[in-house]
This record gives sequence, structure tokens and C-alpha cells, in this order.
Amino acid sequence: MYEQVSHTLLNEILIKLQPDIKGENLRHFYTRLGANFYSIYSLFHLLYGGRDDFNEQAQRLVETMARQYMLRPDELKQRDIEREKDHNWFLSQEWTGMALYCDGFADDLKNLKTKVGYFQDLGVNMVHVMPILKCPKEHSDGGYAVSDFREVDDRYGTMKDLDRLAAELRKRNILLTLDVVLNHTSDEHEWAQKAQQGDETYQDYYYMFPNREIPDMFEETMPEIFPDTAPGNFTWVEGMDKWVMTVFKTFQWDLNYSNPAVFIEMVDITLFWANHGADIVRLDAVAFLWKKIGSTCQNEREAHLILQLMKDCCQVTAPGVLFIAEAIVAPVEVAKYFGEDAIHAKECEIAYNATFMALLWDAVATKSTKLLNQGIKSLPDKLERATWLNYIRCHDDIGLGFDDEDIRLAGYAPYDHRRFLIDYFTGEFDDSAARGKPFGHNAKTGDARISGSLASLVGLEVALEKGDPNEIDDAIKLIILLHGMIMSFGGIPLLYYGDEIGTTNDYRYIEDERKSGDTRWMHRPTFDWKKAELRNRSHTVESRIFKALKKMIAVRREIPAFADFNNRELRDSDNPHLFSFCRVNPQHVSDRVLVVGNFDAHPQHMELDNQLKTGITEYGQLVDIYSGERPAMFKDALVIPPYHFYWLQSR
Ligand code: GLC
Ligand code: GLC
Repeated sequence: MYEQVSHTLLNEILIKLQPDIKGENLRHFYTRLGANFYSIYSLFHLLYGGRDDFNEQAQRLVETMARQYMLRPDELKQRDIEREKDHNWFLSQEWTGMALYCDGFADDLKNLKTKVGYFQDLGVNMVHVMPILKCPKEHSDGGYAVSDFREVDDRYGTMKDLDRLAAELRKRNILLTLDVVLNHTSDEHEWAQKAQQGDETYQDYYYMFPNREIPDMFEETMPEIFPDTAPGNFTWVEGMDKWVMTVFKTFQWDLNYSNPAVFIEMVDITLFWANHGADIVRLDAVAFLWKKIGSTCQNEREAHLILQLMKDCCQVTAPGVLFIAEAIVAPVEVAKYFGEDAIHAKECEIAYNATFMALLWDAVATKSTKLLNQGIKSLPDKLERATWLNYIRCHDDIGLGFDDEDIRLAGYAPYDHRRFLIDYFTGEFDDSAARGKPFGHNAKTGDARISGSLASLVGLEVALEKGDPNEIDDAIKLIILLHGMIMSFGGIPLLYYGDEIGTTNDYRYIEDERKSGDTRWMHRPTFDWKKAELRNRSHTVESRIFKALKKMIAVRREIPAFADFNNRELRDSDNPHLFSFCRVNPQHVSDRVLVVGNFDAHPQHMELDNQLKTGITEYGQLVDIYSGERPAMFKDALVIPPYHFYWLQSR
């Protein structure tokens, strides 16, 4: 029945569309629309079926997809077709990413184009340029408070500069990732301004209330994201005399996705950036897309429906484009952003692996892998055609979002353990050389997260100050160990700009009024190109880190077992300082890599049990494919030096 209705509606829509699309070659568009329309219709109906103007809205949605398809450059249409044929292309081990701020890394887009050789030197072939869209000077949240979704901010350059950068990256086979901030706009966005002037159409783009009645109901169950700097989830707007929902900062107004007009605008914007050359679109804050009284307003079922619908629409117009889910939520929840009850990913193909990230930091602080080994078991298998973004640091804080039950099973008390981690990384703990700062401290719950650069959190800043060569060594080893883990775990490793040369905290943010309240700015540095030059001079800190990562990326590319097909077997080692797993080449199961990392300051042993031996050593002797050397052995046990890792294969 449904199918029949959707079919009839599609025909009606296409007839109405005829005059606008005359003369266009829409063969691929029609095929994809035909294949996806039933799903699009069903989802759109689930979300908006109760409205009188449902058919009209559906018409507008199809028009939007068709218009953007007609605007899509031929070169990108060609890519779409190639990627449709080779639909697992992004699961390959050949991709390594880096996230950066355009201004922090290269001043502006023009200059960024001249730095592309640096990515190639390192081996990075996926670049996430964080938000470059127009946003207010004062209240920008690092670019995540957008005041115009279709205009590049003049501090970064022009749309032409971006197009040129995208073309340059394409020529060099480097993927471009751009953000679409789906959940909110700046209060200076045109929609917000019109709403403030009383335009009801635009007031309906947001959540607005004349008094505290509804906001108070929401607040009963909504947590706070920035409890210290932006407490509560609503802001009173003088003049308009309404409470506006502002989950993040007070100047970031949450968009109302129960209004189909909002959804259609955001589809249009997503496709607009796909057409400007984004291979991958990072969808910001996706967990927050649907608000419901009585819930935390995170991970709601409708948020997933919106993402599925968004994906289906993108499949029609720009099927070569992938989505990244930025959902920093519990392990069982995050896997749902690939899609639930499906085999293939049907929402976002890629998701930030915040669980792994936080667990790695736990292992650094405790020198033990008890929680890492426990917590990683809570990470569900991915769907097919889905992959993780594995990272150590990014532009945001480190949240200690592991499961309380996992903390208990690892032998700790949840509250005390989190407290210890915060003290450890903020340098409050005696034994710690970490130089982080708390972020988002919540006085009511005692929760906090952690800011700080990778180098400073592993003690490099302190070690350099002291000039202690052993401590410098240890910090460098930790940086390399952590990268050894994200590069072999399965998924796309995402480096953070500056980490590859050991960039420490940048404290200048304290002097800047717009930044001083937000410790995340300490790890959003201005890239030091003089320091980067030192990567070519032997024995410098910079060269030791850079060369190690460069080699790791190059070796990884050659190892099919590192492609991401749910081909990881965790190894429970009795040794509480080791993290170990096997990667299996999906094409040849005898082709395996045994990964083992030692998070302790002392050498550790790992017995090679029979199972491992048959898997690994039967055909020859063990070689660490990263160093090209044989690993240290004592009797039948592997010896893993302090803060060291192996990627072992039998040769
Ligand atoms: C895949 C993709 C193509 C991409 C290539 C890079 O073949 O289809 O778009 O450029 O991988 O190796
Ligand atoms: C995402 C961004 C973060 C920003 C927030 C609000 O989590 O990564 O930087 O503050 O969304 O847009």
C-alpha cells in the first residue's frame, strides 16, 4: 500500500518538476531516485506525515535534490559512479587523515593550498579542514556557530579559494572533509535574525517558548554541555521576549527538526558542500538532533531517522560522498549512528571512535590496560560498509565517557577513578608530568573533561622544560605508541595537526578575552612552520616523531590485514600492561598481524600461547613489520620494551 502511495506521489512530483529539468541529462538521478524513493518517502512520512502540507514538503525535497544534482560538477558525478562501483573504497588501509584549523595551520585557504606537499610528505591523504564558514568574530565557538552556511568567512578567503584548494587536493588524491553544523546556527544567522524580528516562519526554525513552563520540563532531564560557561539549555532573548533552546553556548540556537523546512534547508546545504568538493561531510553534534521532553534529548530515535533520510537524499544526488557522525556518546549508542537493524551502514559510514580514544588515555594514566581491555569489549561490531575514525586528540576536550560497569569490572570505583584521571592529566597528581586543564567542570555532578595537547598530556612539555633526556624519550615513545594503536586498530586514523611534530600547549588563549574561558584553545595551536622544518634535522624531537609517523603510515598502507572489515580479534593477555589484538587479512586468513602495545614504564612479557603460535609463528619467524626487526624474545615469550609496540607478522 505504502509502496503504491509513494510511487504515485513520485510520479506527481516528477510531472510537476518537468518544466524545470527539461533538457538535462538526469539518467543517473532518476535511477537513484527510483531506488531510494520508497525509503525516502517512508522516513519523511514517519517524521512529517502528520502535516497537512506533507505532499508539498515532499515535492520541495525532491526539487532540492534535483536542483543540486544539476549543479553537481561533471568531474564529481564521474567520481560518484566510480565509487558506486567500488563501494568499499574507504575501508582500505590506504587512508590516513589529519584534522586542522585553516587559520591555525596556514592562515588562510590560499596558503593552505601551498602546504599540500606537507600532507604528502607525511602520507596524509584525507584532510579535515574545520569550519571555515562565516561566523561572528566574538561568538564563534571555533567556527561551530555559523552565521551563513553558504559563505566562506573572509578571514579564511573566498569560495573561489576553497574551490581551488578542493581541486588541488583532488588532483593529488587527497580527500577533503568539511563540516556541516546540523544542530544549531549562530544567533546572527539570517534565520535567527528574522526570528528575532518576529517572523514566525523563522521562529519555527528554532525551539522558542514564551515562558519557563516547557523549558523547565525539558531541564528536568537534559544534561548540560558547557555547565561552567553556558549553564542550562535555554536563553532568554530580550526584545523577542522568548526562551530559545541553546544546548551548547547561549549564542548557538538549536534547530527544530520537527519542522520539515529545517530538514530540507540542511539537505540543501549538505549537498551544496558536496558540490563544492567535499568527499566527506562531518556532521556535527548528531546525537542532539531531536528534542523530547522527559529525555536527555540525545540519541533519540528520530535523530537516527533524520540521518537515514539525509543519507538517502545524498545517495540520490551525490552518492560518492560519505558522512562522519560526530556523536561522542556511549559505545552502544555510537554504533547506532551507522544505522540500526541493518547490514550495511545506512546513516553515517564513519563515526568518531571516542570510546577507544578515552580508553587509550586511561591506559596512559594508569600504565595499565585493564580498563582498555574491558572497555573495548563494549564496542559493538560495526555494520558492513562502516568504519571508525580512530584518533588520540582532536580540537575538543577528552571526555571520560566509558561505561561505569566497565570501570567496576576493571576493578575501580567509577567516581574515584574519573577523579584520578582528571587529577592525573591536570598535573595535580604527584607522579604525573601531564599538563592538561579541566574543561566543562560541573559543580553539581563533579564531572569534568580534559583539555591539553597530546605532547603536553604525555609529559613532553615538562620533560623539555627540565631538559631531561629520559623523560623526553618516554614522552616521544608514548606519542608513537598511541599512534601505533590508532593506525592498526581498524578504521581511518585521524591525526591532529601539530601532534606529528610534538606541539605542546599554546597558552596565549588566556590573554584573548574571546577564548580565555574555554581551555580547549590550549590545544588549538598556531602551527609553527619553523619547528616543522626541524623534522628534517636528525635527532630533533620533531624528526623523531614525524619520521616514526611517516613510516607507520607508509608501512600500514601495504598491509591488507589493516583494512577495516571487522577483522580484529582481541587477545586477552594475562599481563595488565599490554593491549593486544590480531588483525586478519580478509582475503587470506593466514595473513595476520599481531599487534601488541606496552603501556608500562618497564619491559613486559607476553607468552605466545599455542593459539597464537599456530596463527602467527607456524610459517616462519616473527618480524615487527614496523621496524623491520625481530622482536625481543625471552624463552618462548615476547619481550615488549617500555611504551613500545610491535606489529608482528611471521615471515
Ligand atoms: C577508489 C574511489 C576513488 C578514489 C580512489 C583512491 O577507487 O572510487 O574515488 O579516488 O579509490 O584510491
Ligand atoms: C561539536 C564540536 C565542538 C563544538 C560543538 C558545538 O562537538 O566538535 O567543537 O563546540 O559541536 O557545535
